[in-house]
Formats: sequence, structure tokens, C-alpha cells
Amino acid sequence: MTTTREPAIKVQAVTKSFKDLHVLQGVEFEVAAGSIFALLGSNGAGKTTLVRILSTLLKADTGTATVNGFDVSSAPADVRKSISLTGQFAAVDEVLTGRENLILVAKLRHLKDPAAIADELLARFSLTDAGNRKAGTYSGGMRRRLDIAMSLVGSPPVVFLDEPTTGLDPQARIEVWETVKQLAEGGTTILLTTQYLDEAEQLADRIAILHKGTIIQNGTLAELKQLLPAAKVEYIEKQPSLEDVFLALVGETNATADQATTPAGEETR
Ligand SMILES: Nc1ncnc2c1ncn2[C@@H]1O[C@H](COP(=O)(O)OP(=O)(O)OP(=O)(O)O)[C@@H](O)[C@H]1O
Ligand SMILES: [Mg+2]
Repeated sequence: MTTTREPAIKVQAVTKSFKDLHVLQGVEFEVAAGSIFALLGSNGAGKTTLVRILSTLLKADTGTATVNGFDVSSAPADVRKSISLTGQFAAVDEVLTGRENLILVAKLRHLKDPAAIADELLARFSLTDAGNRKAGTYSGGMRRRLDIAMSLVGSPPVVFLDEPTTGLDPQARIEVWETVKQLAEGGTTILLTTQYLDEAEQLADRIAILHKGTIIQNGTLAELKQLLPAAKVEYIEKQPSLEDVFLALVGETNATADQATTPAGEETR
């Protein structure tokens, strides 16, 4: 069997403006099927705008994008069947129990045996014990897990997670990360947006940085770290963190990776 799968997501020269505000100015990237791709960017960089375009909620001005092989503008219904979107703000109904929330989504999607689907997802997200409690009583992490579980009803091959851990405490973030990793291990393609560099570092197979309307870097964590030399302090090598790389790339003061070579000044390679 050959494993030359088409990219699950392909974005070419996408632009989007809101009146005079040119948010996306030629965005290009591909996401391999079954991988986790992190889109990093500051507030207002255009991450949500891009996710909305890829999930057919918004039309690009120019450029093309395909998701699961379907063009977002000419085959939006096929794209919608292929994806789920967990937005920046949770879609959980607080008055319903966790189980009822899941059953509701399964019914809305006309799936067979909604109760069995709900129970399977509750178990997968360690929510079985809390399943019959109102979602309004859940902790932030539980609520976010339920939100992601709801988006997985029907097992879409491509999942968009827009800032999945914003506002969560460290423990809850780790729970969500585990969930995301398990999903990818099961073959789901995941595009997540985040402002948390450690989140991208923890989760992503590839990381792209969206800045001033374009993807200014796109690579594995190791590739991005190579943009900055390791700084040597006495006998200890300090590898640059993704945060160092990010700030060197988008920072207004020390603007480029080239300039970022060592205040300490010592060569290591
Ligand atoms: N419907 C709209 N009308 C006008 N401006 C918009 C609209 N949607 C987004 N914008 C603007 O486009 C820019 C990008 O917004 P977007 O929400 O995509 O950023 P983001 O990277 O998701 O930011 P955050 O990290 O804060 O979620 C912002 O300046 C925002 O105000
Ligand atoms: Mg956003």
C-alpha cells in the first residue's frame, strides 16, 4: 500500500480584508493527514479568520483552500461533513448534563444510537462519572473536554480547535493536550490555533507562525529552533525555546532571526 495521502488541508494564496484592514495577505500552508498543525500568532493576527474560512463560515477574498480534498468555496457542504470546529468560546449547554449535550449533538447529526455514541465519548474523555451531572457544574477543563467531545460526534477526519486551552489552568490544559494527542494517534488531522508557545511545543508536529498577514515560518519545532543558535553560558548549553524563536521573529525590537544572534555572543556551531 502506498502512503502518499493528499494533504488534509491545503491553503494557497488566501487573502481576506475587512474594509481597510488586510488581515490575511497571501497565506500558504499544507497540513499532512493525521498530523497536528499549530497556527501561532498574536492577538488579532488572523487565526480565527483563517479557521472560519477553512470551516466555510467565511469566504476568502482570493486564493483557494481545500479540506479533506474538497474546495471550501465550490464544495462547502462536503467540507462541513469532513470537519468539526471547536470555537474560542464553548458551545456547551450548561443546563443539560454532559451526556444530554452529546446525545443532542448526535441527534442533530441524525446518527444512529445517540446514547451509545454519547457513552463512548464520555468514556474516551474521562467524563463517565460526571456524565449525568449538569455541565454547568463542570470545571473549566471538564467543560472544554466535553466541548471537544461534542465536536467529535460523527468522527470527522479533520478537527479545528481554536484556542482549545485559553483560560484553563495548567492541569486542565494538560488534560486537553492528552485528549488532542489521543485524537491524532487515532488518525484525525488537527489544526489548532494558540497563543501559547508551550502548547505548540507540546502538541504540534508542525508549527506555523502567522504574522502581518502571512505565514512567516513553518516547520517542525526542531527546524524552528535552528533559526536561533543555542547560546552558551559557561558550560551549560541553553537551547532556544520556541518562545525565543517566536519573539525573535515577530518582536518589534530585535526584529529578525539574523539579528537575534546572541547578546552573549558565543558561537556554538
Ligand atoms: N467580521 C469582522 N469584521 C471586521 N473586522 C474583523 C472581523 N473579524 C475579524 N476582524 C478583525 O480581523 C483581525 C483578525 O481577527 P482574528 O479574530 O482572526 O484574530 P485572532 O488571531 O484569532 O486573534 P485572537 O488571538 O485575539 O483570537 C482583528 O483585527 C479583528 O478585529
Ligand atoms: Mg481568535
